[in-house]
Amino acid sequence: MNLIFLGPPGAGKGTQAKILADRFGYRQISTGDILRANVREGTPLGLEAKPIMASGGLVPDDLMIRMIERELEKPGRLIFDGFPRTVAQAEALDALLARKHASAVAVLFAVDLNVLLERLIGRWTHVASGRTYHQKFAPPKTAGIDDVTGEPLVQRPDDKEETIRTRLAVYKDQTAPLIGYYDNPADPRLVMVDALAPIDAVTAQLVGLINEGAGAGGARV
Ligand code: AP5
Repeated sequence: MNLIFLGPPGAGKGTQAKILADRFGYRQISTGDILRANVREGTPLGLEAKPIMASGGLVPDDLMIRMIERELEKPGRLIFDGFPRTVAQAEALDALLARKHASAVAVLFAVDLNVLLERLIGRWTHVASGRTYHQKFAPPKTAGIDDVTGEPLVQRPDDKEETIRTRLAVYKDQTAPLIGYYDNPADPRLVMVDALAPIDAVTAQLVGLINEGAGAGGARV
């Protein structure tokens, strides 16, 4: 079963997607990581996305849907991290998965919005892998250095307080409606984890859902 990680910026989606990819062989599709790689490489997509991402807004649906269509050509059990973010993207994903006779369960990272600012302002990232750390909650062994490669860590340009506030507003306006989209009594496809818990406790909840093969509301994982 494929998983869709749904939740606001800083909820821990990327952190958990990387842990589950390592542990269970999922392929993480992080649309944010793919966009940032395009920005670094100066591709046409990157040039278009750069100012939008810097402002905290959303890249147009048609570009994102084409990106996912290309990703779905590759094999693997998937974690969608950062997609879909609008109802139009969710409908497109349903159609693309149906074409492959596949499906996905949405995992909502339930979190108090007040903790997100602290999580994002303290985040440090290893650019090449997308691995993230936090100066307080998940510090690297040596400050400013990636544990695996020894390369320097950076802060994301959109992790500034003003941009974070815009990203949260965009989440509430455009992405939060997806909770209702997936929490449909006729076809329950939403499970929830307590994302306020420490990182390893959130992982344990996800592992529990995967091992049980079923989540709240009868959605199959
Ligand atoms: P994207 O890269 O997807 O960013 P995001 O959704 O804003 O999510 P984040 O990466 O900020 O948060 P996360 O939940 O992954 O948190 P993390 O695990 O790092 O998108 C960036 C931009 O690209 C968008 O603004 C948009 O412009 C564009 N974009 C991307 N996809 C798009 C789409 N589909 N459509 C249109 N535009 C799109 O954790 C955060 C920090 O907290 C880390 O430091 C971590 O160590 C720490 N932490 C994690 N879990 C815990 C915990 N349980 N306890 C304490 N600390 C924790």
